[in-house]
Amino acid sequence: MTISDCLRPVALGALILLAVCPSGAMAAAGTAASEPALIPAPASMQRNEGSFVVDPATQVVALDPQARAAAEQLAGFVAKSHGLKLKVRDKNGANKGAIHFRIDPKAAGESPESYTLEIDPQRAIVSARDPRGLFYGAVTLWQLLPPGEARALSLPALRIDDTPRFAWRGLMLDSARHFQSVDQIKQMLDAMALHKLNTFHWHLTDDQGWRIEIKRYPKLTEVGGCRIPAGDGGVDASDKPKPYCGYYTQEQIRDVVRYAAALHITIVPEIDVPGHATAAIAAYPQLGVLDTPPVVSNEWGVNTNLFNVEESTFVFLENVLGEVVDLFPGAYVHVGGDEAVKDQWKASARVQKRIRELGVKDEAGMQSYLIKRLEKYLVAKHRRLIGWDEILEGGLPEEATVMSWRGIEGGIAAANQGHDVVMAPSSELYLDYLQTDSPNEPPGRPATIPLKQVYAFEPVPATLATDKRSHILGLQANVWTEHMRTFARVQHAVFPRIAALSETAWSPVQKKDWEGFLARLPTQLQRYQAMGIGYAQTPFEVRSTLVEDRKRKSVEVSLSNSLGYPDIRYTTDGSEPSVGSTAYKGPFSLALPAELRASVFVDGKPLAKATDRELDAASLLTRSDEELAMCTGALMLRLEDDGPIEGERAIFNADIFNPCWEWKAADLDGIASIEVRAGRLPYYFQLAHDEPSRKFKQAKSANGELEIRAGCDGELLATVPLPAAPDADGFVTLKTPLKAVAGPQNLCIFFTGDTRPAMWVLDRVTLRP
Ligand code: ACM
Repeated sequence: MTISDCLRPVALGALILLAVCPSGAMAAAGTAASEPALIPAPASMQRNEGSFVVDPATQVVALDPQARAAAEQLAGFVAKSHGLKLKVRDKNGANKGAIHFRIDPKAAGESPESYTLEIDPQRAIVSARDPRGLFYGAVTLWQLLPPGEARALSLPALRIDDTPRFAWRGLMLDSARHFQSVDQIKQMLDAMALHKLNTFHWHLTDDQGWRIEIKRYPKLTEVGGCRIPAGDGGVDASDKPKPYCGYYTQEQIRDVVRYAAALHITIVPEIDVPGHATAAIAAYPQLGVLDTPPVVSNEWGVNTNLFNVEESTFVFLENVLGEVVDLFPGAYVHVGGDEAVKDQWKASARVQKRIRELGVKDEAGMQSYLIKRLEKYLVAKHRRLIGWDEILEGGLPEEATVMSWRGIEGGIAAANQGHDVVMAPSSELYLDYLQTDSPNEPPGRPATIPLKQVYAFEPVPATLATDKRSHILGLQANVWTEHMRTFARVQHAVFPRIAALSETAWSPVQKKDWEGFLARLPTQLQRYQAMGIGYAQTPFEVRSTLVEDRKRKSVEVSLSNSLGYPDIRYTTDGSEPSVGSTAYKGPFSLALPAELRASVFVDGKPLAKATDRELDAASLLTRSDEELAMCTGALMLRLEDDGPIEGERAIFNADIFNPCWEWKAADLDGIASIEVRAGRLPYYFQLAHDEPSRKFKQAKSANGELEIRAGCDGELLATVPLPAAPDADGFVTLKTPLKAVAGPQNLCIFFTGDTRPAMWVLDRVTLRP
């Protein structure tokens, strides 16, 4: 069988089976043109012969009023993606074959979200017991329409019987660190629904902002809804403080809840206690432990401010939850519980007295007491409490559900204690973590979580006893937004990794197939384009690796794509690569100067914007921060500059524990001097108990110095005193002769001294002959 056989259905009478391809062949060949590119893959699909044509005359019929919404929603999707307006009818008209939506109390499937979709050349029928099932049937039917084609739309004849694997298919969005508009929240809900996700966890309060209107406590949003961002981002043109503000009114929240409900998405609001509480305490200082009231934080990391444990504070929290419960009709309320370092409680005589009065063992017991009290309140309101896995410490409330984020261990422990669990491990499902090592990656947290890793995550641990497995309600990806100033960045983080999440959340485990997913993904990208979703380009970029030959003024170029899509086309004269450009077959030698541009192609279309590299003798002697290693081997953070307030800002890879960058095996033959361009960021991090890990090299002069060594503990090759401040553009360029050393050296470039509240960061380093 050739690869093209893999793309062709094999006819066996009326049944059409997809030819089984060797692993990798589907992806290797691009999309499987005849396999419906459904994401998430349905539980069961049988292809039949023929197709059903959808054109402007095709009606969508819903006889039952309960089926009307899904019919309307299908028409809405098709209008948006294809510009085709289908009429929705509550009567079976005499026209040609129609698309029918039917509530059928006897429909198959274990869940109210199950549905059946039958398509033959005469008609398409979606049937389900419940409107939820009909909605997911509408999503599948929409995905079967070839994206991007406004005319000649046809649906393949088939039968799909589909049902979700997990009841909790979630996405968390942090609206506290950065705020999204109501329209942006709705766009995210739309996109979740198109991935068959059903739970939106809304992180509404944190140290850096309180984003939900609480009528009884207006200062929560008046004061807690604003912060002064660190550095240049927090001052206007005349150097006056410029606050960053935002909150959702109760009316807006009701609107969002209704919008989500129509998409069969439940919203789980989060009010984080007892930590991540600085914004609330800034609004009402009597809620805090310290005598000095804090301001709403403009620093990332783990803040030490906790709510105090007075009866009046418990009542405040119950009153807040009372309004929250009135706004959000879903079963669950999330009360946080994460990262509440207990330093303030330990140091406070008043908190210690309360611990004794309440008869709890220690600070963990105190947190557990608080969470149990909130559970009692929520249960009385017919709600269920969910919290981050720290709520295990000191003992779980009776009916609590645990969201396991520090790995899956908390989830396993909770399930073993008979509690329900949602798996959301930071190591696999935190979408603020970088997704590739591309220099075009926007800011984010370290540890790269590529698409494949999200796809590979299995939420039911093999070590969990069989009788405890039903406690795993499902899984959730979390989008923390410290580094997402714009909604475009949120979209970059979420798409396409949400597609990988959705397949684990929905499809039966035996249907999971990474190569098959890769083959279906290009069609999903076309859907994103049709729906205006700004997905990440970086996973689809072409990466170039160079081996330099300085003497010959040439480089050997290797090209690759992180997902392994094989059809790479390139040009070397700066022109846009097309499907007719040179196909990459293996490493090639390129004479300099040249401008290398490359794209990955599937079905004749590029998957991402072409990568572009200008190569000449000077560029070979230059490295950007992205091309250097962190001296400790870790990329701690990818950070953006603090200004300008709006628009593009410089981005730096920096280790905030040890500001040092390494150019491995730099060829220093014939090099006389070095030039370092450095930027400066605010040092806006609270590290709590990680504080002792900071390793600043001792400074020798007032502002510290730039130090360059051969090997991080090796010979000092150059040192230059740093200025007190950068130039007006935010950068400084430091030039210095370099002590002569021969051959390849690991150049380590440090900024010495503790320069807080600012931090020098390397932007670019250039060697000069
Ligand atoms: C968390 O990431 N602090 C739950």
